[in-house]
Amino acid sequence: MDKRALLLAKELSNEIISWRRDFHMYPELGYEEQRTSSIVSQRLREWGYDVITGVGKTGVIATLKADGDRAVAFRADMDALPLDEVEGREYRSKIPGKMHACGHDAHTAMLLGTAKILASLRNELKTTVRLIFQPAEEGGNGALKMIEGGALENPKVDAIYGIHVWSDLSSGKIGLREGPILASTGDLKIFVTGKGGHGAHPDQTIDPIVVSSAIILALQSIVSRNLNPFDSAVVTIGAIQGGTAFNIIPETVVMKGTYRTLSKETRELVKNRIKDLVEGITSAFGAKGEVELRDVTPPTINDPKAIEVVRKVASSIFGDEAIVVPKPSMGGEDFSYYLEKVPGAFILLGTGNPQKGTDAPHHSPRFDVDEDVLYMGSALLASIALNHHALWK
Ligand code: NI
Repeated sequence: MDKRALLLAKELSNEIISWRRDFHMYPELGYEEQRTSSIVSQRLREWGYDVITGVGKTGVIATLKADGDRAVAFRADMDALPLDEVEGREYRSKIPGKMHACGHDAHTAMLLGTAKILASLRNELKTTVRLIFQPAEEGGNGALKMIEGGALENPKVDAIYGIHVWSDLSSGKIGLREGPILASTGDLKIFVTGKGGHGAHPDQTIDPIVVSSAIILALQSIVSRNLNPFDSAVVTIGAIQGGTAFNIIPETVVMKGTYRTLSKETRELVKNRIKDLVEGITSAFGAKGEVELRDVTPPTINDPKAIEVVRKVASSIFGDEAIVVPKPSMGGEDFSYYLEKVPGAFILLGTGNPQKGTDAPHHSPRFDVDEDVLYMGSALLASIALNHHALWK
């Protein structure tokens, strides 16, 4: 496999870094990515792409046509998170309360790098390239808006690839895993209604705080006692609210949490157990229970053939030693929605480097990426596009 895309990406490295820093300094939250998307669409038009803007409010769909009916899609997310970045970095966020703490600035910059490389090799392209710059990955399901907006159609794409920078992986490693790589996500709310009264006379009440304690402990038995030990799930109660004073037994308690699984079947099992436990425990105590379960994203499941394509390309341009098989994470991604429509792969690019201070967890105010490996992401996707016609059978 020829390495021209890699050489071009290396030449572009400083430019990719400067794009990333610019996006980093002006972060925008989900569905507000006006500045980011206007920079993206302007560049893409300059490089000869057909560009549609305003998809799902701020999303951009761009196409570089090639002869034939092959098409491949690449996706970057553009949104930032609502938190303040630590002080001291020259490219620190200039917007109070907003920060690119998950690396979506890097994703946008890397995909621009891919776009520029492919535009310069346009004459050799045998596959139409579709670029998807989506809004609101963080809880906003921007992917769904892009799919509704036709991101996977006209032409119909054979496969889709996305990259996520990963601080948990050493810089320069490419994480490839067949099957589930990220979990399904869902929000839960549990309402427990008892009978309030004096803290000194619990016998005259139905104490929803005691009932809630029993529910919280019982929920932890789902993973340990209902799941196959080789399967995985998480049930977390992250908030519990009830009561006003030390000597009052309240009338109600509300709990909020999240449930995550690596398959849809397990998700159904977990949801049914949550409902059964809340119903059984509240009724045993004479209280009333209500459960709200809201699925947010499905599990992100990588197609074996797409992973094989990435493995071939990555090993040929970076060497086998760059490739690792990461464990799945119980984090979630709306990239899963694309993968429900077309086969593809969600690729992790290691950006963790303790010497450079880029190993802080995602969503932390200290999060940062090792910019010196971003060109690898651009090179990888560009090389996939250039070889898609030969590798995707
Ligand atoms: Ni992210």
